[in-house]
Amino acid sequence: MQIGSLLIDPPVMLAPMAGVSNRAFRAISRKQGATLCITEMVNANALMHKSAKSYWLMEMDPGESPVGIQIAGSDPDIMAEAARQAESQGCDLIDINMGCPVPKVVKNGDGSALLADRDTAVAVVKAVAASVSIPVTVKMRAGWDHYHITAPSLAEAFEEAGAQAIFLHARTRDDLYTRPANWEFIRQVKERVSIPVVGNGDIKTPQDAVRMMETTQADGVMIGRSSFGDPWIFKRISEFMRTGRELTPPKAPERAEMARFHLRRMVTMKGESVGIREMRKQLTWYLRGTPGSSVFRNRCYSLNTLEEAENLISEWMDHAQNEELSWI
Ligand SMILES: Cc1cc2nc3c(=O)[nH]c(=O)nc-3n(C[C@H](O)[C@H](O)[C@H](O)COP(=O)(O)O)c2cc1C
Repeated sequence: MQIGSLLIDPPVMLAPMAGVSNRAFRAISRKQGATLCITEMVNANALMHKSAKSYWLMEMDPGESPVGIQIAGSDPDIMAEAARQAESQGCDLIDINMGCPVPKVVKNGDGSALLADRDTAVAVVKAVAASVSIPVTVKMRAGWDHYHITAPSLAEAFEEAGAQAIFLHARTRDDLYTRPANWEFIRQVKERVSIPVVGNGDIKTPQDAVRMMETTQADGVMIGRSSFGDPWIFKRISEFMRTGRELTPPKAPERAEMARFHLRRMVTMKGESVGIREMRKQLTWYLRGTPGSSVFRNRCYSLNTLEEAENLISEWMDHAQNEELSWI
């Protein structure tokens, strides 16, 4: 799959996820086969106010590529300036957020609110595309609600406005995350545009990925929650797409090693206090489905230091290693 001059092959990508798709997890996902990773959402207004957090969100590892920086906002001029600043960080593409359903975002007209405000949405894409020389993509939901499925016609307008790919999360704003994704929306968008369409939502297995692409004609897949504690999913999907072969999910030692690597990267990046706090939940994801995971999971929530976390991982691995592991 090609986005502008960027070759994304095989087309298996890490979705933008606040609190998850940071530098550490992107490095892990890339190593495990994600061929494009998108940062956490950067609020364009906050960036204009030079908020330190916005700059951290845009930080990339040296040589990290391909990576997209996702920006959110609804003022075309501010979004254009945010895109310029993001481009100057050295990313490969700018992704515009038109999917975030959170009330504090949509009340400003940002995120998925743009799905119900066609003129502003198109003006944002046009302004951003005109302000940078790298490709611009739009990550959007299908519409505000099931009575207003605006994505197919918006996608067409975005293509005309200069977008070079659409990432379609196959839910409406109203669905939040509760209703199952409906891949039919992906097919409807794909029918309307000639730029690549990447399908997203509820892809849990390699078989799901292939079925989604076959039934919708999407050009690629974007994985969100299924990568939690399981970055190997990118390789499993790529391998299955290419050869039909099913790779075995990793066993405890490999998972423990990855958890440890992730933990250390987070502590290096964010310091011990914040790094450990943000890793508590992620560690429970790595433990998922292993023997004794409920006991270890509860202990994850009270971790405070790197030493405590490292000891817990060692203990968990010792406990799990001799057992036959089942993957859920
Ligand atoms: C914790 C979390 C944070 C997210 N943050 C973002 C975000 O910053 N930008 C965005 O476009 N989507 C965000 N999303 C949505 C995901 O990118 C994705 O569209 C959604 O999770 C559906 O895909 P999945 O079923 O593979 O998880 C987030 C989702 C989750 C679960």
